[in-house]
Amino acid sequence: MTALDHKNIRDAARIIRDGGVIAMPTETVYGLAADATNDTAVARIFEAKGRPQFNPLIIHVSGVEMARAFVEVSPLAQKLMAEFWPGPLTLVLPRKKDSNLSLLVSAGLDTVGVRMPKHDLAQALIKAADRPLAAPSANRSGTISPTRADHVKDGLGERVDMILDGGPCPVGVESTIVKVENDRVTLLRPGGIAREAIERSAGQALSSAHGKIEAPGMMTSHYAPDAKIRLNAQEQREGEAFLGFGEIEGAGPSSLNLSKSGDLAEAAANLFAYLREADLAAKTHGLKTIAVAPIPMEGLGEAINDRLARAAAPRD
Ligand code: TXA
Ligand code: MG
Repeated sequence: MTALDHKNIRDAARIIRDGGVIAMPTETVYGLAADATNDTAVARIFEAKGRPQFNPLIIHVSGVEMARAFVEVSPLAQKLMAEFWPGPLTLVLPRKKDSNLSLLVSAGLDTVGVRMPKHDLAQALIKAADRPLAAPSANRSGTISPTRADHVKDGLGERVDMILDGGPCPVGVESTIVKVENDRVTLLRPGGIAREAIERSAGQALSSAHGKIEAPGMMTSHYAPDAKIRLNAQEQREGEAFLGFGEIEGAGPSSLNLSKSGDLAEAAANLFAYLREADLAAKTHGLKTIAVAPIPMEGLGEAINDRLARAAAPRD
C-alpha cells in the first residue's frame, strides 16, 4: 500500500477540501495545514495558532509545476528548486496576480513563500487534496515548534480536525527561508539547509535580513519555554537544567546532550524536543533556568543558534 492509498490520507484530504485544518508531519516540524485557496480555511489556521494576521504563511506544494500556478519562478529560483526540492528550503517569490491563492496567506505582501516538503505523508496529502497547503508550524504562536505528534496534541489539542502521526521529524528545525529578487538571494531565516550550501548553488554570498524585520511576523521572542535560557554555558550551575553539546555536558540532574558526538544535524533534530523536556524537568524540580552549551556557528548551527537566541530573548 502506498502512502497515497492510506485511509488516513484520504480522510485528511477530505477534511482539507472541506475547509478543515490538519496537523501534518514534514521533514522539518509538524505543520498546521489548510487549503491555501480557501479564505475561511486559512483564517482557521490563524485562529487555531493564535497568530497575528499580519504574519504571512508558507504554502506547501507538490513540486515546481504547482508552485508556478501561484508565484513567478525566475531562472535563479528554478535552479535553487532543482537543487534543494524536495527539502527544507522556502523561496519567497513574487505572487502571481491572477491566481486563486487566498490573500490571507501573504498577509498583504506581494510575495509568497513556497516550499516542497520532503516527507511522504505531506506529499501524499498535497496530492490527494490536490491543493497547495498553507501551513505554519503546528504550535500556538510564540511557543516551541512541534517535532512529534504528541507536541501538537499538547499544544493545539481540539483546535485541529486531525493529526497525521508521522513520527519524529528528521530535520527538527524549520526550513531555511530565502527571498529571490532578480539575481539576488537574501537569507530571511536560517533553517534546515545550511547557508553554505545555498551560497554554493546560487554562486553568491547571502546577505541576511534576519535581525531586521523583513517579515512582519518575525518577532524576536519566539520558541519560548517557561524557564529562562542561559546561552553559551560552559557548565551546569546550581538550580539549572542543562542542554549539552559534544564534550560540554551538564554534571547534575536534568541534563541532556543535544549531540554527544558534536553532530549539528543530530542536535537540530533533538533541539525542540529537548527544550520541551528540559522545560518540563525545570518545572518539576523548581529550576528557573535552562543553560545551553555553545553551538558552533557553521552549517545547521546557524539555525540552532537563531532558535536559541529567540528562546532566550526578552518576552513581551
Ligand atoms: O519548515 C517550515 O518552514 C515549517 C513547516 C511546517 O513547513 N513552517 C514554518 O512556518 O516554519 P511558520 O509560519 O512557522 O514560519 C514561516 C515564516 C514566518 O516567520 C513568516 O513571517 C515568514 O515565514 N514568511 C512567510 N511568507 C513570507 C513572505 N511572503 N515574505 C517574508 N516572510 C514570509
Ligand atoms: Mg513557527
